[in-house]
Amino acid sequence: MKFFLDSAILGEIEYLYNAGICDGITMNPSLVKKAVEGLKGSAEKATLESYITKALKIAKGTPVSLEVTELGAREMIAQGKALYKKFNPVAGNVYIKIPADPSFDGNDGKDLDGIFAISELHKAGIPVNCTLIFTPEQALAAAKAGANFVSPFAGRIDDMLRKGIGANFGKEDYYPASGLVRDDQLVEDNGIVSGIDLVGQTVKIFRQYGIKSEVLAASLRNARQVREAALVGADIATMPFNVFRELLIHKLTREGMEKFTKDTPEEFRKLV
Ligand code: G3P
Repeated sequence: MKFFLDSAILGEIEYLYNAGICDGITMNPSLVKKAVEGLKGSAEKATLESYITKALKIAKGTPVSLEVTELGAREMIAQGKALYKKFNPVAGNVYIKIPADPSFDGNDGKDLDGIFAISELHKAGIPVNCTLIFTPEQALAAAKAGANFVSPFAGRIDDMLRKGIGANFGKEDYYPASGLVRDDQLVEDNGIVSGIDLVGQTVKIFRQYGIKSEVLAASLRNARQVREAALVGADIATMPFNVFRELLIHKLTREGMEKFTKDTPEEFRKLV
């Protein structure tokens, strides 16, 4: 499984690429906003353009998803093409992130906007990451339209299920992949019992039909969710920096090393 960093913060990007465990980056407008706010306080006078350019260079050879902010098909296509034209020449690694279908109620006469945009960018040879996916059928439609990546948002499904039962929870709290039972009923949204279930159902359908688009598990909030995304066969997991760190943490690793260090005979140290 590939590991992507879900961040627009240069320090985090550099750190993980130097560590050699980062296979790509995903950004969205909220993450860019966070990075821009960080820039304001820094002594370095960087523009957002130079900042994104740096990120693309660090990630050369691996995909970097930049997201559109428009809602209509025509506008998304124009913005997606413009972003690609401006930034892809830097390192040849730009993917354009398009939402599955941003129509708010399906009654505005503008259905399938995301799908039109994906098809058009695909025809123009621009790689697409279809984002904000909450059902396997959205993923299937996006793949049909030509999306290279489809991004089911696991954590946000878990949030919705928890909110639905009035649970108190923190953003990074674990939610069981097999779902929760309340009043003898499995808590679910349209047949989806957890964020990982959404990822797993999507993977299963794609494998069943030999669909080539990669399933990119997104909105992952903790290390166990990353493990479960791997167990259900996600091709990629994108996660924030703190989750990357959490992947490596176990108190027995630390305790074990402390003991090994203490036990090391002096003769061993002198060997090198
Ligand atoms: O990868 C999508 C991500 O940026 C959204 O994560 O935690 O805000 O649901 P989150």
